[in-house]
Amino acid sequence: MIQWSVMTSPAPWPAVPGIAYGGDYNPEQWPRETWREDVVLMREAGVNLVSVGIFSWGLIETAEGIFDFEWLDELLDLLHENGISVDLGTPTASPPAWFFSAYPHARAVNKEGVPMGFGSRGMASHSAAEYVKAIGTFSSELARRYADHPAVVMWHVHNEYGVPVGEDYSELSVGAFREWLRARYGTLDALNAAWGTAFWGQNYGEWHHITAPGRAPSTINQAQKLDFMRFTDAALRECYIVERDAIRAFAKQPITTNFMAHQSFTTDLWKWAEIVDIVSNDHYLTAADAEGEIGLSLAADYTRSLAGGKPWILMEHSTSAVNWQPRNVAKLPGEMARNSLSHFGRGADAILFFQWRASRAGVEKFHSAMVPHAGTDSRVWREVVELGAALSKVGEVKGSEVRADVAVLYDLESIWAQEFEWRPSEDLDPRERIRAYYERLWRDGLTVDLAHPSADLSGYKLVVAPASYLLSAADAANLTTYVEQGGTLLVSCFSAIVDEHDAVHEGGFVAPLGGALGLTVEEFLPLRESVVVSASLDDGTELAPTVWQEDIRLEGAEVVATHTSGPGTGEPAVTRNSLGKGYGWYVGTVLSVADLKPVLARVYQDADIAPSGLPERVEVITRRGETEDFVIAINHRDDAVTLAVTGEDLLSGDTLTGEWELGAGDVAAIRTAPAAEGGGR
Ligand code: GLA
Repeated sequence: MIQWSVMTSPAPWPAVPGIAYGGDYNPEQWPRETWREDVVLMREAGVNLVSVGIFSWGLIETAEGIFDFEWLDELLDLLHENGISVDLGTPTASPPAWFFSAYPHARAVNKEGVPMGFGSRGMASHSAAEYVKAIGTFSSELARRYADHPAVVMWHVHNEYGVPVGEDYSELSVGAFREWLRARYGTLDALNAAWGTAFWGQNYGEWHHITAPGRAPSTINQAQKLDFMRFTDAALRECYIVERDAIRAFAKQPITTNFMAHQSFTTDLWKWAEIVDIVSNDHYLTAADAEGEIGLSLAADYTRSLAGGKPWILMEHSTSAVNWQPRNVAKLPGEMARNSLSHFGRGADAILFFQWRASRAGVEKFHSAMVPHAGTDSRVWREVVELGAALSKVGEVKGSEVRADVAVLYDLESIWAQEFEWRPSEDLDPRERIRAYYERLWRDGLTVDLAHPSADLSGYKLVVAPASYLLSAADAANLTTYVEQGGTLLVSCFSAIVDEHDAVHEGGFVAPLGGALGLTVEEFLPLRESVVVSASLDDGTELAPTVWQEDIRLEGAEVVATHTSGPGTGEPAVTRNSLGKGYGWYVGTVLSVADLKPVLARVYQDADIAPSGLPERVEVITRRGETEDFVIAINHRDDAVTLAVTGEDLLSGDTLTGEWELGAGDVAAIRTAPAAEGGGR
């Protein structure tokens, strides 16, 4: 079975027919009889892809350099004989006990200076030579053995980089950080200038005086912290590349690693998307959020955007409750299918779960699974089988793409920088603002891409920039050009404040967007905790801003809403500027999702877009195929709604014409005639 294979360019998509369905499969926990039962059940459920070996380092390399592939050989053969393909994992997110025992200095160190020990899971220091060598060796050995195994259709490197080990404050990491800084700045003079070290006498005269921003008596220079985040991300990407290249030397299947879009914030996914063959993502509902479908949609739209609009893989989600939140809420009947169809509608051509069979032992025993502890006579299992049957009916949707007229800007560096301490108000939360603006667009039934501020935005009718605190002059120029050429830009408060070194832009707050917005900001006027003020739109609509007002200097913009109470009384709350062929809107305060409705309604007019008019909590997304469109409709409500899409529902087989009902909690996938061109891509 084992042969050297000639390296060829990677396949664009794993060789699995139709929509891929399955999940993480960790059969090392079970006896062989269970494996045999598993494959029978997988076939019953329509499972065609499982991820194997993601945490199995200690079971494969049982001691340094000693590999036991026997059980994995047997497993892959069994899966193949049963028509189930494999996404083969490299287990480097969790080195074995022998590794930590042999190389204790390779442990990652947390911010408090404590080395992180064994007994859990989590990688070693990304900068430890022994770790990097070990992951290269392991990936090579795994790929050498299985590159040509017929079950293997894809490679799954590591697991969720940055979680649970991201930043490492060890001496090894500090040494690598200094090297990274040398490469970035060349000279200490350049570094001192970029970090503004003249303040507080922080100037460095020697490279080896620079440390990681761990613990210090007071707040640490934020430019240094920002660079440490960038360095960490780059170091993790280098680890990925070591493994990717080791695999690629033998294997031609696509290689991925699973992201956690908008759920983990260590890795800058725009950069990661460039180094994977296929984008894949894990998503878990936030149990405290009763409308989890909105956060899910945001993550899915972000993932599709990372994939450049191409289909992507939902690598993990849950059949029901997870086990790691304060209150782990079980999914309602039908919710798993609604979640899955939402990911699918937003571009996922693979719907996978963590995990196949619930663990009896270990830390994740209370996590739901495709085969729950209750066995197959259970609601979860019946829904798993139903979902597999449903996905088998929508194979023709595979490869079709979603197009959006609206983009929401998403730049992790800006989130990092805004979340450091000593900002004007801790109540101004960039993640909350991204969610609020996204949620408004979602509730208005608009399909949204996420985009980096440096991206080509010319295909979008509307670009929304929530919380774009860090915005480089070049990216601000990109946004200004977008407006000049006819785009509509909506910017929220505390945007375009600092450059890439967290230094306030020359010319003052918002200066680089001054041309696009027709204003600058003289002074921030943050509000005391929980204070609600009032503002009035020029049509008389009353708004209830919170958190923030500003002393705005108008330089051409017209005032659309004005504060009527609070320290900013009389100041603009919302403005509109016309530049070239487009418009620059500014919301200089924090508005709730409800209060954003009348404001966005005005913005939509300039952008020539209209809300869908669908009832609340009804999701409708279109995937565009070569000759047909596919409309995915999801009713999250507990009553039926009326829709008017004409076509064939691939799930029920019904022909739909005129007005028809989508029942409470129901889903539909309708093949329909292509809509007129439009959308962002
Ligand atoms: C993450 C991991 C999985 C599992 C799930 C549980 O996404 O990748 O291994 O721990 O969380 O929700």
